[in-house]
Amino acid sequence: MKTYTEAELADAVIARMEKMKDPRFKQILTGLVKHLHAFAREVELTEQEWFEGIKFLTAVGQKCDDKRQEFILLSDILGLSSLVDMINHRLPSGATASTVLGPFFVHGAPEFPYGGDLTKEAKLKGEDTWVSGRVLSVDGKPVPNATIDVWQARANGVYDIQDPSSGFELRGRTRSDAEGRYAFHTFKPQFYGVPTDGPVGRILDQMGRHAMRPAHMHFIVDAPGYQQVVSHVFVKGDPYIDSDTVFAVKDSLIAEFRKVDAPDEAKRLGLPNPFLRLDWDFRLAPAGAGRTRQAIAASDAVKAA
Ligand code: BEZ
Ligand code: FE
Repeated sequence: MKTYTEAELADAVIARMEKMKDPRFKQILTGLVKHLHAFAREVELTEQEWFEGIKFLTAVGQKCDDKRQEFILLSDILGLSSLVDMINHRLPSGATASTVLGPFFVHGAPEFPYGGDLTKEAKLKGEDTWVSGRVLSVDGKPVPNATIDVWQARANGVYDIQDPSSGFELRGRTRSDAEGRYAFHTFKPQFYGVPTDGPVGRILDQMGRHAMRPAHMHFIVDAPGYQQVVSHVFVKGDPYIDSDTVFAVKDSLIAEFRKVDAPDEAKRLGLPNPFLRLDWDFRLAPAGAGRTRQAIAASDAVKAA
């Protein structure tokens, strides 16, 4: 029987995984054990602290149900969700940057045509905004018939799906036309806080952090032959733009919502005057460009089979 030293223990655990069949899973668990042990050694974790950690993770699990995913929220506020997004979307330059999906996307949002009005069912009003632009390839060619999902929080910072009394509000799906164009009427998004009534809220507080996300709209753009992009557009000048609690802001995703005072144009677009305007093009990376090492290995394995 060998008595392990503190420094040897991680390798002893890793050695017991020798027979693992799945090489990728083995790589992940090896890294996890190595870093967990290094972490405990680095901070000289006490038994009391270790048990507090176990209690915290238990509370995170207990807060989860079919609508609430406290573990994802924890991953978000620790920057892990953004890091995983970065690793998996190393896009070619010029492509619209991706960022976190967040928990409030739903499949099956109502479809709307070019120029559709997402504010129709909204009980809380906001600043009327005309959003328009094109879906393009990175080399500037129009991408017709791309699906564009859009969703955003209502004026009180709550998403429609968080409110059982609400139908779809400020949410929908449209398609780019033959020139790659899309447009819709919505309200200017507002900053809001992520849920803080659980253990993640408590840990944010202990970290001395706020729970706010800068104002943003969510998008998913998808077209055959291109990589799907999950993205946001952030509002320039938002007070939380430099301190997003989920670390999802990228410079290239910050946009100006311009004030327009043009009664004829407002009338033509079916908006009150004055209104705001967001011009926003999406540039999609070709399928397969800038993929992760893992994705390339997986697709090579499929091709070889
Ligand atoms: C969101 O933007 O909808 C979101 C993202 C991460 C955590 C909570 C909300
Ligand atoms: Fe959001």
